[in-house]
Amino acid sequence: MWTRREYLKAMLAAGTTAGLGWPVGRAGERDPDAILRIVAKPDTVPIWKGEPTAVFRYVGEVIKGRQDALRLSGGYLGPTLEFRRGERVRIHFENRLDEASIIHWHGVIVPERDDGHPRFAISPGGSYLYEFTVKNPAGTYLYHPHPHGRTGFQVYHGMAGMLIVREPAEAQMGLPEGPYELPLVIQDRRVGRGNRLIFKRMMMDDMSGVLGDEVLVNGRPDAAFKVRPRTYRLRILNASNARIYKLAWSDGRPLVVIGTDNGLLDAAHGPHPYPYIMLGPTERVEVLEDFGQRKPGVELALTSQEFSVGSGMMGGGMGGMMSGGGMMGDGGMMGGGGMMGGGMGGMMGGGMMGADQGQEMPIARFTVARERPVRGDPVRLPQPQPLPEPRFEVKTRLAFAHMRGSLNRRTFDMRDMSAVADDERLPLGKPVLWTFENSDGMMDMPHPMHIHGVRFRIMRREGPTPHSVAAGLMDGGFKDTVLVFPDERVSVQLVPTEPGLFMYHCHNLEHEDGGMMRNFRAA
Ligand code: C2O
Ligand code: CU
Ligand code: CU
Repeated sequence: MWTRREYLKAMLAAGTTAGLGWPVGRAGERDPDAILRIVAKPDTVPIWKGEPTAVFRYVGEVIKGRQDALRLSGGYLGPTLEFRRGERVRIHFENRLDEASIIHWHGVIVPERDDGHPRFAISPGGSYLYEFTVKNPAGTYLYHPHPHGRTGFQVYHGMAGMLIVREPAEAQMGLPEGPYELPLVIQDRRVGRGNRLIFKRMMMDDMSGVLGDEVLVNGRPDAAFKVRPRTYRLRILNASNARIYKLAWSDGRPLVVIGTDNGLLDAAHGPHPYPYIMLGPTERVEVLEDFGQRKPGVELALTSQEFSVGSGMMGGGMGGMMSGGGMMGDGGMMGGGGMMGGGMGGMMGGGMMGADQGQEMPIARFTVARERPVRGDPVRLPQPQPLPEPRFEVKTRLAFAHMRGSLNRRTFDMRDMSAVADDERLPLGKPVLWTFENSDGMMDMPHPMHIHGVRFRIMRREGPTPHSVAAGLMDGGFKDTVLVFPDERVSVQLVPTEPGLFMYHCHNLEHEDGGMMRNFRAA
């Protein structure tokens, strides 16, 4: 397998790029508006009081062009990238880790060669050249590594960053800007002695995914923000490996949603108030928050409320016994009740677990300044666009059994990373209805399903959506990741616009690394 750089070198040596389809130097392609360098490397960063923490991180700079295309961010997080719709960006990626890696621009629709497929992973010391035109509409996206089997480990240790796409039309929408735009990158972590990050601790982590027992925001613990009594645009990204959040304000006020994973809502769907917001791994939500509606000087908190997603890690016969009883929010009950029996009982004990999916967790505190509130402009979101009628259907059954997830009973094959089955071929440019059915497992658990290279709309959600999450599902806007709960069938509609081989997978990173990932080909 050639790296892209090797390709380019060979092409330059040959004095031509004709026929290969690479954008660099090809007649008709304009020069990039911004050229960036992003380096992945081991580092140490002060996160908690005391010793600094060993992390992997992205660092970067603008080499040429628009200087605000890259902004340093907090803690260990990678820099925030800021692209404009329609512009052309070139990114030099250098891997200075001691393991293979590659960057994927999550939610961003780029050509096959720029999408960070695991088969493009580059060895330590290697580099990769990306160049693409930013087609996505204004919204909140992210980037993260995608080497097969190591994505969870690398993300957990710090490799992820926010990617913002802006467009001029936003200026007419009355959205808060500048200091009144607040990115909130939410991640859970577990810290051990010497401030080390603790990744997998036990077999169970492959099933539930790696869950931390504290929440970091923008790479920092105990997040606290001073805000002014006026309207903010919050860009919330769940960059956790496996944790699902149920976001709510401590004072019970609704969250007013203006955007989802893949762009702003249209005027038919937003701004819309929700009592709480369910946010699975890599899902994003943009919230319009008018802190002027609160008392000056008041302190409020964003929390993740308790919820229950059925039987979670146990499933099967255990499912019925354990769901509904607030089980997932109370680790103690499991160990204490001895329901698990045998060896499992000990492992699942309250003390060991302490960080179940669905347990309540504090996220961030906000203090509203004591000053006169400033009223915001009315927000005008874009007009709705009609959706084309899908003629083509595909169906994927999600299963989790014998410690790993599968998609239509298949897993990702390391030795044949380009494998595509017949039911994984999509017609380029044609509307497709893709149904995920989470009903084939021995274990009931939610799967955040993600499709590369497209944005989709949720057409139908059928089956038993857990009661404690239903009112917080953001099913109205454009998405690239969707939570599929046990026994649900969720149908999404999309139009593949990029030809080639792309991935779809569960974005619980431990499920993904375990092989709950496949290719599809659009042609
Ligand atoms: Cu967020 Cu396949 O990735
Ligand atoms: Cu992706
Ligand atoms: Cu999964």
